[in-house]
Amino acid sequence: MKGPRRIVAADYDAMSRQAAGLIDATIRESPRLVLALPTGATPVATYAELVALHHRTGTDWSGVTTFNLDEYCGVGPEHPQSYAAYMRRHLFGGVNLAPERCHLPDGLAPDPAEEAKRYEGAVEAAGGIDLAVLGVGVNGHLGFNEPGDTLIAATHVAELSEETWRRNFPQLARSAATDPARRGELRRAYTMGMGTILRARGILLLANGTEKRLALERAFGGKVTTRHPASALQLHRDVTLVLDRAAAGHG
Ligand code: GLP
Repeated sequence: MKGPRRIVAADYDAMSRQAAGLIDATIRESPRLVLALPTGATPVATYAELVALHHRTGTDWSGVTTFNLDEYCGVGPEHPQSYAAYMRRHLFGGVNLAPERCHLPDGLAPDPAEEAKRYEGAVEAAGGIDLAVLGVGVNGHLGFNEPGDTLIAATHVAELSEETWRRNFPQLARSAATDPARRGELRRAYTMGMGTILRARGILLLANGTEKRLALERAFGGKVTTRHPASALQLHRDVTLVLDRAAAGHG
């Protein structure tokens, strides 16, 4: 099987421009596009560039539907660590997306299992994901599908690995050292499942920096294994990697 298409840009800014250019062009081609969207540090400049393109060229987001890959359990949209707040800050506030077409799991839903089911149903009702934009964890996670014995197909509540939790909340991890009660904070999150992600018609994976190099090597250069969830992308026929030179291993 043919491997993924790779676009290697000189640095983070160039990578972000490439990624934004591809997403922007896809929206222009398909104004009713259904996107899956990531958070984290990687896509920040891609979102900034998409907002700049919207202002500069008038790309119309009014028919686009978005589904975020994940959201923390127990936080509402006003919580500063929520992905809802992140998305408003980096993208939703800067383009003309219709609020009713921007979807994230509800971190405060009283019945998490029911909320996961509802979210999966909403993706299906929208006709599935056309383009899933993804980041990747240094341990190979996608969304919050962490390495383990199994992977789950549908949207579900996942426990963050110790590594991911420490990385995402370094301050919280420090205070938990003296206040063990805090170890339970922001430990669980809704995530699209691997099936939800793999059913997307196209996948655009963004990665920058040397710390992602090994994760990419294991994802595409080895066996498909639940111990490295991103390796499941080998099973998808339309994956594009947009990388900087450091992540691609070019010096
Ligand atoms: C986070 C998110 C993922 C994200 C990944 C990489 O924990 N749940 O959706 O893609 O880890 O994050 P970063 O881009 O900050 O390296």
